[in-house]
Amino acid sequence: MSHAEDHSGDRRDFLYYATAGVGAVAVGAAVWPLVNQMNPSADVQAASQMRVDVSGVDVGTQLTVLFLGKPVFIRHRTEEEIAEARAVSVDDLVDPIARNRNLGDVPATDENRTMTDFNGENTGEWLVQIGVCTHLGCVPIGDGAGDFGGWFCPCHGSHYDGAGRIRRGPAPQNLPIPVAEFVDETTILLG
Ligand code: FES
Repeated sequence: MSHAEDHSGDRRDFLYYATAGVGAVAVGAAVWPLVNQMNPSADVQAASQMRVDVSGVDVGTQLTVLFLGKPVFIRHRTEEEIAEARAVSVDDLVDPIARNRNLGDVPATDENRTMTDFNGENTGEWLVQIGVCTHLGCVPIGDGAGDFGGWFCPCHGSHYDGAGRIRRGPAPQNLPIPVAEFVDETTILLG
């Protein structure tokens, strides 16, 4: 049994996606040999990306996929979850940095931690984060667990809110957001 399964309590949403996507590289013929030498091999590149079909992830549920050896939580948030997370002031946060690899060191507002959809809008519906506690690396329990309606790491009692921000306990940082983007209406590309 994996560590993630230990903590999730619900195996139905713990699915592994083996389909990996490789981004197309459009370059002129003259520069291709140089670029090609500098790029990682196709198999390395393929292994560092993953396409996830989220069309079946209902509002109020979470899909967990294994990506580069770590669980990634993909949550389709409810309107209530979005409103609650967006009402939190950054001043009240333990870690004021978004920890979003897509944005750099920006404030940990809910908007800076949630995904922009394929139409370029950030409605707050989709939250994608690496499901590894920033204390000692356990996999937190989700589905509104903990005192802040998000995730809870029972090992030493770290509470994360509905945007994956640490609110109480020994964990020093918010759950990290991996490189991710919608490549069509219902597909998220990780990596
Ligand atoms: S590993 Fe999460 S609280 Fe210690």
